[in-house]
Amino acid sequence: MIDAAARPVPDLALVPRPDSLVVLPGRFTLDHRTGLRAGPGAETAAALLRELLTPATGLALPAHSDGQVALLLAPGEGDLGAEGYALTVRPDAVLLRAARPEGLLRGIQTLRQLLPPEALAAEGAQTRMPAVGWPVPCVRITDRPRFAWRGAMLDVARHFQPVAHVRRFVDLLALHKLNVLHLHLTDDQGWRMPVAAYPRLTEIGGRRAESAGDGIPHEGAYTRAELAGLVAYAARRGVSVVPEIEMPGHARAALAAYPELGNRPGVRLEPWTRWGVCENVFGVHDAVLDFCRGVLDEVADVFPGPYVHLGGDECPDAEWERSRAARARIATAGLAGPGALHGWFLATVAAHLAGLGRRPLGWTRTGAELPAPFTAMAWLDAEHGRTAALRGHDVIMAPYRSTYLDYPQSADPREPRGQDGVLDLRGVYDNEPAPAHWEPEAARHVLGTQAQLWTEYARTPAELDYLAFPRLCALADTAWSAHRDWPDFRRRLGHHQTRLAALGVRGRPLPSPHPERTAACEPTTAVRP
Ligand code: ACM
Repeated sequence: MIDAAARPVPDLALVPRPDSLVVLPGRFTLDHRTGLRAGPGAETAAALLRELLTPATGLALPAHSDGQVALLLAPGEGDLGAEGYALTVRPDAVLLRAARPEGLLRGIQTLRQLLPPEALAAEGAQTRMPAVGWPVPCVRITDRPRFAWRGAMLDVARHFQPVAHVRRFVDLLALHKLNVLHLHLTDDQGWRMPVAAYPRLTEIGGRRAESAGDGIPHEGAYTRAELAGLVAYAARRGVSVVPEIEMPGHARAALAAYPELGNRPGVRLEPWTRWGVCENVFGVHDAVLDFCRGVLDEVADVFPGPYVHLGGDECPDAEWERSRAARARIATAGLAGPGALHGWFLATVAAHLAGLGRRPLGWTRTGAELPAPFTAMAWLDAEHGRTAALRGHDVIMAPYRSTYLDYPQSADPREPRGQDGVLDLRGVYDNEPAPAHWEPEAARHVLGTQAQLWTEYARTPAELDYLAFPRLCALADTAWSAHRDWPDFRRRLGHHQTRLAALGVRGRPLPSPHPERTAACEPTTAVRP
């Protein structure tokens, strides 16, 4: 809770909202005399804080055992949880404590936000600031997240994003205490992760002739070193990278590279140049399973996190209905028909992932179509998340009506092209990942929520910034804080925009605080066309 007795200081405006904040009189000044003290286990967080502040402030913040800014790991502070922290700013000292290193990483982002926005800027901002020092208001903050999974999905398959852009996106996630970057690495239109055993995946699957009739070729793929570097970069900021390799549908780029993995021997396909649901899907013969296992072995080498996303959405079974190999599989596996191959495929591949010590994640539409070990990412309606949770799945809430940031932010025809419909800032803020009316046994399965940045219509960092901000701030607030207060969020966001501007984020200007909401302000399509 924000302490009611405390003076309102409008420009504290932290995003996401801390659990408990007391504003105290006075300020600490960060200047050329300020040293940084890192207790045992806090060195990485201290080094990151220095790395974040020095370029903008011009302050060296040398390591010093008497440093006025102290970062301490205090394992005894168990009630702070895995990511909680306690931050006290007094006129003579700043003390950040956490039970775990992740908590320190969240706390240093709060400290950054307490500084003037120029302290977030890139190199050289200090030339615009007076040399007297950088004020930090005195506060006592105790903070911890409501949900453990607070993420954003970035679709690098439809439009490839160079790794420098993705790193910048990670920085912005970390600033908002978001802790998962879900990378959608493969789809019908492009395969972006190199796999040594299958080089044509990126050589052929990483290029398409055009996009939806624009006549412009599109290509891109990461190197293994880039992906490993991204994982390390993100981990240092407390963000884990979850790779998504789509199967058995959304696989046409892989089929273009290796036609023998499909259902139509002898038919050559190109990476798809249209958007929507493609009817070409992986076959179900043994060679396909060997391929998936080989790919996932490499994925597990590059991405150390516990989860691997296997997609699993939008898999038409028309090709399986016509395929002799699919009929043979149905017979040998004792399945009811082609419709059962989807679950069989995912369960078979998930068993391999389990052998690698990883947990499978999949998109769920109905809440009932994923095999038991899957954590379900519920993308259609929130109620499908509840269905999945009641079936015993852990659930990540990603309902398109409130988390798909590829919808335009208003009905104004000047908005950049997106899916049909509108998702405004309020619509994202009103997303409730575990509604109060849900059964406790459903609510306890909700790991958290995440935003989706599909990139059919967004190519450049500027276009992605516009879609993501400020809506991602709303998602971060609802994922971190249980406290709901739209006017308070809007007030904080007003100031927070100056931080985003200092970072060079080209978000959408804030709409009027009291927009008219109409029934038209809702996404109108239930599926990505
Ligand atoms: C999805 O939108 N098909 C995950």
